[in-house]
Amino acid sequence: MKEDLIQKTAQAVFRSKKVVAFTGAGISVESGIPDFRGAGGLWEKFDPAEYATIEAFHANPQKVWTMLMEMGNLLESSKPNPAHTALAQLEKMGHVRSVITQNIDHLHQDAGNTRVIEYHGSHKRLVCLTCGQQYAKEEVNLDALPPLCRCKGVLKPTVIFFGEPIPTGAHLQAMEEARDCEVMLVIGTSAVVSPACDIPVLAKRAGAAIVEVNLEETQLTRYVSDWILQGSASQILQSVLDGVAGLRKT
Ligand code: APR
Repeated sequence: MKEDLIQKTAQAVFRSKKVVAFTGAGISVESGIPDFRGAGGLWEKFDPAEYATIEAFHANPQKVWTMLMEMGNLLESSKPNPAHTALAQLEKMGHVRSVITQNIDHLHQDAGNTRVIEYHGSHKRLVCLTCGQQYAKEEVNLDALPPLCRCKGVLKPTVIFFGEPIPTGAHLQAMEEARDCEVMLVIGTSAVVSPACDIPVLAKRAGAAIVEVNLEETQLTRYVSDWILQGSASQILQSVLDGVAGLRKT
């Protein structure tokens, strides 16, 4: 059963130059980064109401920055896993046109994908809440928290907190990619956070084949996904890449 679906996915990817990957935290779990809602996920350790809303950040930036530093150290030491590298290879082969990611870990870029839409921002850039000035994280002294802008405003990662709008550029690019793709690989997301979870629905309405890759079924599986490859993202994406490479030889 699963082998047939792997082959079916490889054929769909092989036939298309308009494959878009839509990824969530699950694709990075095998790089050592916990997801949010799975067993041992981040929201078990940090209550999102206290650490992940823009109100919580404004109320106590120093407290939120302690969580951000713990996350940041983990992200700095993480490396792409075979799922990330398979997507980069599929871009090099001309099949994957873009990656829309909810992740802030920069691992798709580190793996080699060049068209990555960071729908929820990035941990690598900071922004001043007073004057809007942006900084690369390495430009800023993080010994004292919260870090301050030259204007003395508080700095925040460009990560999108609950209650913040999606960056307009990223939102428009993601909509465009979803409307013009033939296959969307929906990898490692519980698809419960809006408006990100609308992206696969948009692609479906535009006629794309929606292929889920997840350890378990999600709310997309029954009504949006055409099929689900259930299991580890790194093993499944590596098998799909092998399948596409095999078809390219025939
Ligand atoms: N392989 C495949 N899927 C996996 C793996 C794995 N190795 N490990 C976990 N998963 C799946 C889980 O089954 C789950 O469905 O990845 C999904 C992760 O879901 P979440 O933890 O909810 O992460 P995500 O969907 O990215 O969350 C969306 O919520 O908290 C906000 O802004 C945050 O971007 C995040 C958004």
